[in-house]
Amino acid sequence: PESVRVSEFAERIKKPATEILKKLILMGVFVTINQEISFEVAEKIAEQYNILLEKEVKQEREEVLINDFEDKEEDLMPRPPVVTVMGHVDHGKTSLLDAIRHSKVVETEAGGITQHIGAYTVDINDKKIVFLDTPGHEAFTAMRARGAQVTDIAILVVAADDGVMPQTIEAINHAKAANVPIIVAINKIDKSSANPDRVKQELTEYGLIAEEWGGDTICVPVSAKTKQGIDTLLEMILLVAEMQELKANPNRPAKGTIIEAKLDKGRGPVATVIVQKGTLKVGDSIIAGTTYGKVRALIDDKGRKVKSAGPSIPVEILGLAEVPNAGDILYAVSDEKTARQISEMRKEKERQQYFASSSKITLQDLFSQI
Ligand code: GTP
Ligand code: MG
Repeated sequence: PESVRVSEFAERIKKPATEILKKLILMGVFVTINQEISFEVAEKIAEQYNILLEKEVKQEREEVLINDFEDKEEDLMPRPPVVTVMGHVDHGKTSLLDAIRHSKVVETEAGGITQHIGAYTVDINDKKIVFLDTPGHEAFTAMRARGAQVTDIAILVVAADDGVMPQTIEAINHAKAANVPIIVAINKIDKSSANPDRVKQELTEYGLIAEEWGGDTICVPVSAKTKQGIDTLLEMILLVAEMQELKANPNRPAKGTIIEAKLDKGRGPVATVIVQKGTLKVGDSIIAGTTYGKVRALIDDKGRKVKSAGPSIPVEILGLAEVPNAGDILYAVSDEKTARQISEMRKEKERQQYFASSSKITLQDLFSQI
């Protein structure tokens, strides 16, 4: 778009068209209200009103630098499922995750001092499942709000003695909105007050009909305490994952999502990322939100230093200049200079948005309806 109709322009910058016409005449531009003026002229007029017509070329430039291309079908390889555990408070999410981890993960360190990165990988025979330990729904919501979808399967934990509760319903709604398949883990079946059938009954009100009742929702009775049903639950996860045919190209620059980040006293900014495409390597130049850096070290869910992380694999990253936000998308780019450049462009954009007032419109705004 190189020109704009005067009437349209006046409307967009909320100034009287007659006034604009006068200014145009003073500039030596003689047009009527229904004629078009070039963008350069529009920009000069806008300047007189202290209105900045921001060009949207920066966005385009960023895309060129990041080059988030579509992968070819033949480059795709199977990847492990990323599973998020959700449910009402105290229904046993953490206990269930602990039960899964301790029954399946060989503790390498004495005393089991496992580094918690809020995400971990469990090996089942030759297959992997990645679990996300989200304390509340906030992280899930935040990530979804930012368009980052990392979850492939949701495990809905419902205590058999308590049944469907407000946060259970919230979790169902989140998973449905994200179009993620739900597997129900009916927990605490070791309790004498447990009533799994009541849970199934209540779930039908929210559109989740158990398979054994003619629906298509997998419900697995489990006990995080006695570990009953845990193996079945893992099998079901693998079954659902298999049907999803999850794939990604491991041989490309990495793209991932930050799931949590903090400032560590000794180590500086530390971010946990789930790689979604490509392979993240030590030495990679990266951009995440408005921050950038060079990967100094990668640490896996067992607290071990690793050289790289492929699709679905969660790792901690050291080497970012600042702490990114959960939900930020991480990209590996060609070099550190490019990473810094993108970071600066994004920060500048953020600043402009921060200072933006009603007197600022973008070129996009100006031309989008023409
Ligand atoms: P929040 O993180 O606070 O939302 O809770 P949570 O869902 O992670 O529940 P958590 O794992 O902390 O368990 C809550 C309580 O239930 C704890 O006292 C657990 O010991 C108990 N609990 C969890 N699973 C079981 C189970 O299978 N059987 C029995 N009897 N108790 C369980
Ligand atoms: Mg918990």
